[in-house]
Amino acid sequence: MRELIFATNNKHKLEEVSRLLQGSVKVISLAEAGLEGEIPETAETLQGNALQKAQWVWERTGKDCFADDTGLEVDALGGAPGVYSARYAGEHCSFDDNIDKLLQALDGNTNRKAAFRTVICLIEGGTPRYFEGKVNGCILTERYGQEGFGYDPVFMPDRFAVSFAEMPLDVKNQISHRGLAIAELVKYLTAN
Ligand code: IMP
Repeated sequence: MRELIFATNNKHKLEEVSRLLQGSVKVISLAEAGLEGEIPETAETLQGNALQKAQWVWERTGKDCFADDTGLEVDALGGAPGVYSARYAGEHCSFDDNIDKLLQALDGNTNRKAAFRTVICLIEGGTPRYFEGKVNGCILTERYGQEGFGYDPVFMPDRFAVSFAEMPLDVKNQISHRGLAIAELVKYLTAN
């Protein structure tokens, strides 16, 4: 089976993505590939960060790999936190700190529209290719659910009455930004 190194240190994402690619690709973690250290993420766009992370792996291994970058884009905040979603509340902040800051920023605001957007960069034989997935929804006024990670407890996707953190992983994967981007990646990989 084809092997791809996934440039992430996030074990939740590794599990989500490995499950989505099951049967078509063997996903290799950074640890399994013998890679250690902090992957730089200093670009100003999701596409730029995804490329930077995949390139970091490619330069060290010469093996086909991919990386993803996700942002939560909130309408009333002009698209923020966007590419800065991970460190919205500060450099070493927790998921909870980020949620607190977001709820505060939207306090009393009736426009709760938001979207998660993921860009994946696949590097194959040194050539980068991009895949994108987006899910529209809204920011709730308080936390609901225990599943998932990040902003999941306060994000409710359109056409659902529960937050991402109230959904089993399989359901989230079918409709999520990352799930949709991975589906595009799988479509490409199975056709090529
Ligand atoms: P990353 O670029 O994929 O690491 O995502 C950046 C940040 O967006 C993460 O640190 C999380 O706070 C948030 N994020 C990414 N994906 C998800 C998700 O599926 N649910 C909730 N938050 C997410």
